Amino acid sequence: MMSLVLAGLAVAAIASEQSSPVTFAKDVLPILQKNCQSCHRPGQIAPMSLLSYQEARPWAKAIKAAVATRKMPPWSADPSYGHFTNDRSLKQSEIDTLVKWADSGAAEGNPKDAPAPIQWPKDGWNIQPEVVLDLPPHEVPAKGILEWELLALPAPFKGDTWVTSMEILPGNSSVVHHICFSFEKHRPTTVYNRYEWVQVPRDETGNPTPGNSGFGELPGMTIAMRDVGSTEVKLRQGHPTLKQTLDFCYLPGASYDDYRVWNAGKLVPAGSDIIVSLHYTTNGDTVTDQTKIGFTVAKTPPEKKFVVQGSGEDTPVIVPTPASTRAAFASSYNPEFAIPPNEGNYLAPPMDITFLKDVEIVRLRPHAHVRGKSAQYKVTYTDGREEIVLNVPHYDFNWQHSYLTSLKLPKGTRMHFEFRYDNSASNKFNPDPKRWVYQGFQSWEEMMAPNVGFLLDRDADVGSLMSVTN
Ligand code: HEC
Repeated sequence: MMSLVLAGLAVAAIASEQSSPVTFAKDVLPILQKNCQSCHRPGQIAPMSLLSYQEARPWAKAIKAAVATRKMPPWSADPSYGHFTNDRSLKQSEIDTLVKWADSGAAEGNPKDAPAPIQWPKDGWNIQPEVVLDLPPHEVPAKGILEWELLALPAPFKGDTWVTSMEILPGNSSVVHHICFSFEKHRPTTVYNRYEWVQVPRDETGNPTPGNSGFGELPGMTIAMRDVGSTEVKLRQGHPTLKQTLDFCYLPGASYDDYRVWNAGKLVPAGSDIIVSLHYTTNGDTVTDQTKIGFTVAKTPPEKKFVVQGSGEDTPVIVPTPASTRAAFASSYNPEFAIPPNEGNYLAPPMDITFLKDVEIVRLRPHAHVRGKSAQYKVTYTDGREEIVLNVPHYDFNWQHSYLTSLKLPKGTRMHFEFRYDNSASNKFNPDPKRWVYQGFQSWEEMMAPNVGFLLDRDADVGSLMSVTN
């Protein structure tokens, strides 16, 4: 009698669980589609695909661990501050669903419950480009340090063109550290299809001698040049012939810009050049990289334009002051920036900008290198009220997140950037805690680049948008 009652209870318990079993088709796949598949599909940066039940099932326990610890999806903004339209972090209820699914046997459920698969762009792209520029094949040796190389090519457009999205598709992502480009007015001195770089003086460990990072213009620089397709390097003293302003960069975890979400674009005037900067790192094998750059273009001019602080043909976003040269490279170059050995919490010399017009900020993208520890953006309104608009308490060089937002700030508002660095041995990415660290291009040197992106009316004058106040 007793056992019958117990058996009855057990059946009831199973029945109540079965009334809402968590299944892949009904509960899990929608979350994977929304929050994971942008990276977890073939050709993207994540190591495994999570498109189908067959692909995801072996990872059920790992998925549980990754989401419960909030390691996945990667997202570094402190949720207490700001509001980001591309926030990909999971809600607690979604984490609970994934954990429950893994704990209850990771069932598939009825495939009829599954949402239709997302039609991801083909061939590894995220934007499905309408115009593609193939960069010339570039051989990367097995070892050594490669400086940032600049290369000029004619922009691949006919006539004035509004670009609405752009993406860099690296040929071999294990050697592409980053690739940046900007559109520049053609100069008579520009030579196409020739790599050009500054030969940075380095000591035997590969570190630049202090003050010689290749950042900015130094007297007596050695300039190296090599024609595409040739191995012969020619040296001369002087200044580089090519200049660029970093309109857009590929960094691992950040491969495309899409302005279509704001009905915005970027005007590339007819006859512009594209100046590409290539930064390769060696991986032990000699490889040939063949990177592509893709664009979508507007058929009719979009309503708005997107500009980044100190960048592009639209450069006069900053009122020229002595300090503005620091910000003009989207990275504040400051000779006082020097991180002592073993310093675990170095505060970079602060940088403030003041807006000289009403502005709308739509993107924040803090960039530092391997010693980057935290980044905070704070605005102070004219009435003295302060607001933290982005707080990244644990900056991670491996995740170059763009934080998309809509911050409408009135004229006179100040924005203050606070970047901290960890040069101690407890930073597991630190290659050498015994060194002083200065600003520079290589990842073992540092950067402080707040990368503030603005949305302006298409025909707005970008002059005098802000000034750098210290
Ligand atoms: C922005 C790209 C990106 C997104 C979005 C993303 N991942 Fe990942 N994921 C990666 C990369 C890259 C790795 C490998 C490197 C690493 O582990 O950090 C990874 C690794 C993992 C791993 C293996 C971790 C381990 O312990 O080896 C799991 C599991 C995982 N992701 C699950 C997810 C789930 C679930 C989601 C969505 C809720 C998600 N990821 C969203 C890029 C992403």
